[in-house]
Amino acid sequence: MSESQIYQGAATMDKITSLAKRRGFVFQSSEIYGGQNGAWDYGPLGVELKNRIARNWWKEMVQLHDEIVGLDAAILMHPRVWEASGHVENFTDPLVDCKKCKTRFRADQIPPECVSEKKCPECGGELTDTRKFNLMFKTHIGPIESNDDNNVIYLRPETAQGIYVNYKNIIQSNRMKLPFGIAQIGKAFRNEIVTKNFIFRTCEFEQMEMQYFVKPGTDVEWFNEWKKRRWAYYEKLGIKMERLRWHQHGADELAHYAKDAYDIEYLFPMGWKELEGVHNRSQYDLTRHTKYSGKDLQYIDQDDGNKKYIPFIIETSAGLTRTLLMLLCDAYDEEKVADKGVEDDWRTVLRFHPAIAPVTVAVLPLQKKDGLAELARDIRAGLREDFATDYDQGGAIGRRYRRQDEAGTPFCVTVDYETKENGSVTLRFRDSMEQIRLPREELASRLFQEIKAYKRTK
Ligand code: GAP
Repeated sequence: MSESQIYQGAATMDKITSLAKRRGFVFQSSEIYGGQNGAWDYGPLGVELKNRIARNWWKEMVQLHDEIVGLDAAILMHPRVWEASGHVENFTDPLVDCKKCKTRFRADQIPPECVSEKKCPECGGELTDTRKFNLMFKTHIGPIESNDDNNVIYLRPETAQGIYVNYKNIIQSNRMKLPFGIAQIGKAFRNEIVTKNFIFRTCEFEQMEMQYFVKPGTDVEWFNEWKKRRWAYYEKLGIKMERLRWHQHGADELAHYAKDAYDIEYLFPMGWKELEGVHNRSQYDLTRHTKYSGKDLQYIDQDDGNKKYIPFIIETSAGLTRTLLMLLCDAYDEEKVADKGVEDDWRTVLRFHPAIAPVTVAVLPLQKKDGLAELARDIRAGLREDFATDYDQGGAIGRRYRRQDEAGTPFCVTVDYETKENGSVTLRFRDSMEQIRLPREELASRLFQEIKAYKRTK
């Protein structure tokens, strides 16, 4: 299948960006001041979606495993951490500037002949020599005004290191035995030179990372196992699997810590791009932290004659904010509908899995009058303990359905005159637009069933 056939959903980055703003998923940071490059704010629907993705990932990675526990480490860490991790030395992008038009480029993202001939790909002007630019945000801690290097501190560029430096604490406090994992969700910061494509690559973002500690010699097996599990995770989320593929890092792409690495790539509207990395980080990080901290980070294997060794680490590293963008692109659909006798009517619909949709169920009174609004509010009150709900009484019912479709709400409950008479309501399904009637008392259990049994069909 060609890329354009896979991408029949009509999602473009412009459409996604404007829907995200219009419906309150994502706003530009500091917009009234002209915006802050590389930073975005998550509005009412965006923060719900982000929280739900995080919760869903946590369930998959922690709740469903005996041997994986969570952590929430500080963003500010001892600066030696980043020397040990190799980020001070190696976490760099190669940069060139055009002396004429002043545009800045990543040398590895423009044609190689431009770099060797020092010729700007935009205006033909002269380029500077290539310089290494460290991606870590550097700041100072404590009350200092000068650039006193003793007080330098970094904003973490990945959440992983917070896990490595706590690995011994967690073994001791939770009596963990190999193989075991530590999962963490949190902010990371990178001084990215090129921040285009909406929230795809930003300076402030969130990661969902899990580090799995294994016995040396079992790392390849566990690496393959985690590749399988992470692929299955996206299947379970109902992602269009033809838009996912594996990309193995070549020798020139491998990060300084990696023995082997695969990216799960997604076909975004702007092309195939990395969504998540699965890395065999070998013994690199714990060996380096042993050396830099002077602490013994070996594992004592009580099941193998108290042998001591540094475990291997298999890492799964997904961007939370990048996953949110992927889900917006994947869920986006424009569909011609011919209901209620209206010809050529189109709807925009976000086909989120109900487990991650920002609003699970919207309650809509057919009319505001005759006590229907009060009844609808009462029905909503009965649902909100268990579900993320919305209530909307403004405008024609068809238009209200469309608004919910565009927000990705999988279920709408309509309250009408029959509800007053016999307590039954209409339940409308977002994807099929089918409607069924059921007693209001059965709503919650029916919704639980529908969420559990959900299979994406379009
Ligand atoms: N701990 C390993 C690590 O950080 P990475 O490949 O640099 O590996 C992992 O990042 C994931 O974090 C990426 O696959 C991507 O989803 C997300 N990510 C990385 N840089 C990002 C950025 N500037 N903006 C948004 N997400 C980013």
